[in-house]
Amino acid sequence: MTSRTSAKSRLNLFSKHLDSKPFLELNTPFSTERSGSIEDAQGNRIPRNKPQELKKPEPEQLPKKEEPPKMASAQAPHPALMIPGPIEFDDEVLKSMSFYSESHVGQPFVNCFSEVLQNLRKLFQTTDPASQPFVISGSGTLGWDQVAANLAEPGDEVLVLHTGYFADSFADCFETYGAKVTQLKAPIGDRPQLDEIEKALKEKKYKIVTVTHVDTSTGVLSELKPLSDLVQKVSPETLLVVDGVCSVGSEEIRFDDWKLDVVLTASQKAIGCPAGLSILMASGKAIEVFKNRKTRPTSYFGSWKNWLPIMQNYEAKKPSYFATPSPQLVHALDTALKQILSRPLEQRFADHKAASKKIKQAVTDYGLKQLASKPENQANGMTAIYLPEGITPPDVLPNLLKKGVIFAGGLHKEIATKYIRCGHMGVSVTDPNRKDLTKAIESLKEALTEVGHKV
Ligand SMILES: Cc1ncc(COP(=O)(O)O)c(C=O)c1O
Repeated sequence: MTSRTSAKSRLNLFSKHLDSKPFLELNTPFSTERSGSIEDAQGNRIPRNKPQELKKPEPEQLPKKEEPPKMASAQAPHPALMIPGPIEFDDEVLKSMSFYSESHVGQPFVNCFSEVLQNLRKLFQTTDPASQPFVISGSGTLGWDQVAANLAEPGDEVLVLHTGYFADSFADCFETYGAKVTQLKAPIGDRPQLDEIEKALKEKKYKIVTVTHVDTSTGVLSELKPLSDLVQKVSPETLLVVDGVCSVGSEEIRFDDWKLDVVLTASQKAIGCPAGLSILMASGKAIEVFKNRKTRPTSYFGSWKNWLPIMQNYEAKKPSYFATPSPQLVHALDTALKQILSRPLEQRFADHKAASKKIKQAVTDYGLKQLASKPENQANGMTAIYLPEGITPPDVLPNLLKKGVIFAGGLHKEIATKYIRCGHMGVSVTDPNRKDLTKAIESLKEALTEVGHKV
């Protein structure tokens, strides 16, 4: 082979990674953003709806690129990350990650892990000794795998209450493990009503019902207590599983009082820790269901058969090993939880409600609508905002960035190009020294004005 042909074949190999047509389409709008179009409900490509009548200002008319804002923290200056997770970090949380290397089975680390598990019980408001916390390296998605692999067996019936994109993905996860999924869907911005859920529960015996406490694609909040009361009344054996990835830490959750069976979450949202930890609380009932399985879990890494003894040993401060945890992330979570628990939880939830009210009022004042139109459906840690007709996320997000604020684009496949999302969780709303929220509200107004929207 000449050096020229071998270089060409190497280039061919390399360029395979850059293939513009991926083997499988991603199921998020991020796959379509690149190709400049989105799909309708039938999967047909819809060209981007560029604003016609609203002329964008010439670059010289735009305000001069501002210096990155000074932060109320020791971190390098950076735009305020106001997306619905990951969120801004507190300095102390970040600092606790620069912990020297220690043995993951050494007593000091095991003691720290034990405290984390005990503090999670406080955050989830459970005092029942049968409840079982899990902290496993991974993201929120691993929580879905844990539930589907450990609590569902092939052929089991699962009812997924749908309030947006994340229910579709959880349903897909269950199907991956062989469960039979029924989705109860609500119109975009709404949630399935209790009478519809009751009807569904009476029609079929479900082993598991899942609800997304806050769907990050729509900002829709689901009420847990009335749902749990209903499940207890109509189908008490059914396990109630809550996807709390976008709610734990910003919305009230009373694990024992509300008789929840699983609440799964992740480190990077309202808990305010860097991404990388799957955090889950299981009830004694859920653990019994797991122990009574007829078949073996078809996940190895996610199997509670492997993790249950480890979590129990860690909490009892006994060194043990299944798979190496990340000591640095666990230290960060330890700090984040201690900060959260240093104040009454009610105060924390009240702060999130107040911040949410502020931003939602501004959205209304700017003449915009939220995806979640009913106040009782609106999350307190994020807001999903419809853009004015003819304006798309790429028209406003770069302007927001120039002003030092990062918002997220739409995620719900059917309307992804029509809306943006703002996260308001954690230190951005609880630290009085931070101006993230005010900055977000002011910048949104300016960014809208710059694309011709009258505010
Ligand atoms: C409600 C909800 N569930 C699950 C997930 C998946 O979590 P992760 O991206 O950490 O895997 C997310 C992510 O944003 C989410 O918002």
